Amino acid sequence: MAKTHRFLKACRCEPVDRVPVWLMRQAGRYQASYRAVRARVSFLELCRSPELIAQVTASPIDEFDFDAAILFSDILIALPPMGLDLSFEKGEKGKGDGGPQIGNPVRTRSDVEALRVPDPERDLRYVLDGVRAVRRILDDRVPLIGFVGGPFTVASYAVGAGGQGFTRLKTMLYADPQAAHALFEKLTRAAIVQLEAQVAAGAQAVQIFESWLGELGREDLEEFSFPYLARIAEALRKTGVPTIFFATGMSTHLDPIAKLGYDVVSLDWRIPLPEARRQLPRVALQGNLDSTLLLGPKEKLLARARLLLEAIGHEPGYIFNLGHGIQPPTSPENVKALVDEVHAFRP
Ligand code: CP3
Repeated sequence: MAKTHRFLKACRCEPVDRVPVWLMRQAGRYQASYRAVRARVSFLELCRSPELIAQVTASPIDEFDFDAAILFSDILIALPPMGLDLSFEKGEKGKGDGGPQIGNPVRTRSDVEALRVPDPERDLRYVLDGVRAVRRILDDRVPLIGFVGGPFTVASYAVGAGGQGFTRLKTMLYADPQAAHALFEKLTRAAIVQLEAQVAAGAQAVQIFESWLGELGREDLEEFSFPYLARIAEALRKTGVPTIFFATGMSTHLDPIAKLGYDVVSLDWRIPLPEARRQLPRVALQGNLDSTLLLGPKEKLLARARLLLEAIGHEPGYIFNLGHGIQPPTSPENVKALVDEVHAFRP
């Protein structure tokens, strides 16, 4: 029988020998090996090459000894087969910051209706071949986490890039709620089919990145987000793999989050985890070190990591992570020291 890894045990609130640790964006520009790959291929070319996906996904496991790998891809990868022209523009003449751009953003009800729900094995074959290639290269050393973006976060890009997307999308909620619901409905179906396909291809846990959900107030969360997130959790339950819900700026909404049906809730640093535990008694918790600590002095980083471990690491159902992704200027040396610190702690 295959061994059960400590990350999967922690997802199920079972006792562990060490606190499992992985970091969002653990494969990325802070690594010299990643920058070397990106010197040869664009970000989207990388996301569409199963061999490079496998190499880049596995490299932080070899380099830092993380307890889980996360598939290298992007939350916007399904937008082109859905009908949207996605590009990652390099900053030029003061325009753009290298972030995602949509050439034909969704503005009207008929734009929403024109969106196609992707067929992952046909339209996103490279992602699934990537999952299969990662499983081969990992050879069961650590489990592989698949992921998609949450409907609100993906929609904020689909209606127009970046920060502007929040005003556009939130205006749509109030001005044309039917169009907004139709958009969330499509993105929910797209999320479910992608995650089901990733699990079928070999993903052993899945995470929903609903990173910008903290933009919404409670009434709008109840109407436009929670029902869709609950549907995704419900659909994934049938696959049997643990489900992780990640968002930022959401610590004032933990009671409703507890009812969504996820196995693990990943939180940012705006709330102490023992406090979150009281409102989330039956799920595993993941997080929530401030990712900026990785940019500072190592002593401060490790002292804060120890405080977090002492506060929450003795209970079952805890996965060490950041409150949001690793930032590009992070020093790899600090990442290595952090992983070693977590592994030195006795739960
Ligand atoms: O955790 C992981 O490493 C998994 C892979 C992953 C990436 N992005 C890789 C990536 C995941 C889960 C994401 C999430 C994502 N992508 C979000 C959610 C918000 C968050 O940060 O949690 C959003 C909004 C996106 C869309 C996106 N992709 C943006 C805004 C950018 C530009 C910002 C940036 O960091 O350059 C990307 C590009 C991107 N996605 C990179 C990586 C490693 C950088 C690509 C590069 O320049 O090499």
